[in-house]
Amino acid sequence: MTSPGLKTPALTSRLPNVGTTIFTVMSALATEHQAVNLGQGFPDFDCDPALLDAVTQAMQAGHNQYPPMPGVPALRQAMAAKMQALYGLRCDPVSEITVTAGATQAIFTALLAVVHPGDEVIVLEPCYDSYVPNIELAGGVPVRVPLTPGTFRPDFGRIAAAMTSRTRAIIINSPHNPSGTVWSAADMLRLQELLAPTDVLLISDEVYEHMVFDGQLHQSAARFAGLAARAFIVSSFGKTYHVTGWKVGTVVAPAAFTAEFRKVHQFNVFTVNTPMQHALAAYMASPAPYLELGAFYQRKRDLFREGLAQTRFRMLPGEGTYFQCVDISALAVPERDLSEADFCQWLTQEIGVAAIPLSAFYGDGFDQRVVRFCFAKKDDTLREALKRLSRL
Ligand SMILES: Cc1ncc(COP(=O)(O)O)c(C=O)c1O
Repeated sequence: MTSPGLKTPALTSRLPNVGTTIFTVMSALATEHQAVNLGQGFPDFDCDPALLDAVTQAMQAGHNQYPPMPGVPALRQAMAAKMQALYGLRCDPVSEITVTAGATQAIFTALLAVVHPGDEVIVLEPCYDSYVPNIELAGGVPVRVPLTPGTFRPDFGRIAAAMTSRTRAIIINSPHNPSGTVWSAADMLRLQELLAPTDVLLISDEVYEHMVFDGQLHQSAARFAGLAARAFIVSSFGKTYHVTGWKVGTVVAPAAFTAEFRKVHQFNVFTVNTPMQHALAAYMASPAPYLELGAFYQRKRDLFREGLAQTRFRMLPGEGTYFQCVDISALAVPERDLSEADFCQWLTQEIGVAAIPLSAFYGDGFDQRVVRFCFAKKDDTLREALKRLSRL
């Protein structure tokens, strides 16, 4: 694109510390070495054919032009009905629900809508990799508070200590990527109590809301009136219906928050693809697919954990999400002493299974000898991975 004599002006990066994400790096390495890719978090199986049929029908019915800016009304109504049925939250689909291009956009737009330059936003590490760059792009200051090492439970003492007069928001994520922990009702009540006397907003990333195991309930912020009144509650159809590539999600927030959210949304994404929204609205008529998702993934978790139990990986609890974390320090190979990142590279190249180092979810690269596997895979894929891992 450049030629002699033409000058390309130099840029000063808005995100100087951001490079290619570990997920892209590990997926490329997995392809290069024909490794089983348990790194990046997406299913290797397809969605319900009925959902694909619904998209075709929507396209053939002519739903191919811009939908309303906040989203197709039928989809927002279906979301409102779900929020009430599952979490007891009455929300207005007209003024309190917006359809987004996935959860990542929802979180970024929420931050752009509420964060002013210099505002602080608390993130609980390890955390999903978009949060911190999003806060920075919004002009905010990320304040990193660690979840308790080893258990990954929230440390309310440290959260309270991190709150200042400049704190604008806190981002939470339960069920939690990468650790697979799930916040209890007591955790949510503690948070509600902590935030009650403040003007701190809550961004509740609930993309794994339907992947909670062993009879536990997802404790959505929607169940807690004091939290819902100050929250952006973020969901993702990609995770729930095995269509991560569709990038469709929602954000539920009080009308005043939603109004500000939509001011940003309309000049950025504006609208989300129409036929998918119609298809999702029709598909949501039955709650069975999301109500059965927990059992579906619990079976895969159990299959994967049974295999891992035959190895020297020490498994961390897996209460929710489609991730299983393991401690590598008791393995009988010298590579157990490598950094998490180097271990994952070795595991991909030599053992043929890709994983993600937990250090990738910390700003300072904190290394605790733990790596993350994704079990949103066909049983055969999981068995093949386990066969390879059985050497360890
Ligand atoms: C915690 C968390 N939030 C958000 C997302 C992104 O969701 P979406 O694909 O709907 O943007 C992911 C995807 O991996 C995630 O793990």
